[in-house]
Amino acid sequence: MSVFSGGKKIIIRGEEIEKEFENRKHVFIVCDPFLAETGKIKYITGKLDNIGVSYTVFSGITPDPSIEIVAEGIAALADVKPDTLVGFGGGSAIDACKAMMFFAEKENIVENCKFIAIPTTSGTGSEVTDFSVISNTKKAVKYPLIDPNLLPDVAVLDAELTLTVPKETTAITGMDVLTHAIEAIVSTDAGDFSDAMAEKAIKLVRSNLLVAYKEPENFSARQGMHNASCMAGIAFNNAGLGLNHGMAHALGAHFHIPHGKANAVLLPYVIGFNAGCFDNLTGSAKTYARIARLIHVDSGSIRQSSLNLIRSIKSFNHLLEMPSNIREMGIAKDDFRDALDSMAEAAYADSCTKTNPRKASVDEIKKVYAHAYFGAIGRSL
Ligand SMILES: NC(=O)c1ccc[n+]([C@@H]2O[C@H](COP(=O)([O-])OP(=O)(O)OC[C@H]3O[C@@H](n4cnc5c(N)ncnc54)[C@H](O)[C@@H]3O)[C@@H](O)[C@H]2O)c1
Ligand SMILES: [Zn+2]
Repeated sequence: MSVFSGGKKIIIRGEEIEKEFENRKHVFIVCDPFLAETGKIKYITGKLDNIGVSYTVFSGITPDPSIEIVAEGIAALADVKPDTLVGFGGGSAIDACKAMMFFAEKENIVENCKFIAIPTTSGTGSEVTDFSVISNTKKAVKYPLIDPNLLPDVAVLDAELTLTVPKETTAITGMDVLTHAIEAIVSTDAGDFSDAMAEKAIKLVRSNLLVAYKEPENFSARQGMHNASCMAGIAFNNAGLGLNHGMAHALGAHFHIPHGKANAVLLPYVIGFNAGCFDNLTGSAKTYARIARLIHVDSGSIRQSSLNLIRSIKSFNHLLEMPSNIREMGIAKDDFRDALDSMAEAAYADSCTKTNPRKASVDEIKKVYAHAYFGAIGRSL
């Protein structure tokens, strides 16, 4: 990593937002039906009504947004030609909004649009990344689009918006944050600046995720997780991700598993592979030992520290009532075996996998999937 970007502008809590809309002609807001129907959208529309700026709400976003939804959004954009776009919601809404803007600009449907991202989950960090993950549902593949033009101009971090996130989504998105931070630290492109963001994110997850899970209305825990999500986003936007995300994209696309849940279940097994805990210890085992030290589970030996980190993540998953392996998610062995070749190939080709610290062949990826399926090493599918 030779250049570090910390996002363009981050507004913490909402007071400053209204100024961002002053003198804008028309605002196009992208969200999901839940946020539109429960009135949460008034967080923005109320401000726009106050200052007399017109707007359109596109509320058709579904989880893991598809190419078709993006195309629908572009057609709606062409009708109103906004000068401002707002991605309001979880990663799905923000990513869809990014992709709409990206392609609409390429087709000269809009130009120089201001892009404001307002996350309502604490997970993807999409508000500060160059990434947008779009699904091809027919081919069961998720494509990470990566381009500097996808970086929002403004990110708004207001944890008030996350107080209603259900327990399961809090757990799933929180484990996505942890995976981002860990993958950024062990990435082949990691550096001091991305490490600083990722290490702080891990500490914030450690002290806030379980509290936010057990006490959904605990504002301080929610803000801690919101900040962690954004910091982990900045970390991986600079350092990249790794095999965990490559494998999670393929697993999620095949079996319709929420992104953070796929990450959470795979994480202990990918660390085991990357650190070489079950064959020959690799150079990155030392980095995992450093992460273990951050959460106070390190020991005298590098191998043991890496194993302790794996154990802690398993126990975190357990406390968050997450499955401990893929089989526990109700996926039949035959179905998993049928999908294995294409998942392993997709994970191998996924752009996130490029910065993984240990090069993995398609066969090795299949072995990691098998380990994660059974939760035990050495069993074949
Ligand atoms: N762009 C990136 O950098 C990046 C990084 C990681 C993942 N992703 C992508 O982001 C998507 C996942 O995003 P996500 O995990 O935020 O989930 P999501 O956006 O799909 O939202 C999950 C659920 O939470 C609900 N929800 C959102 N905010 C809520 C609130 N305040 N109160 C109650 N319910 C609320 C939504 O309606 C939805 O049902 C995936 O497509 C994933 O691949 C993107
Ligand atoms: Zn992720």
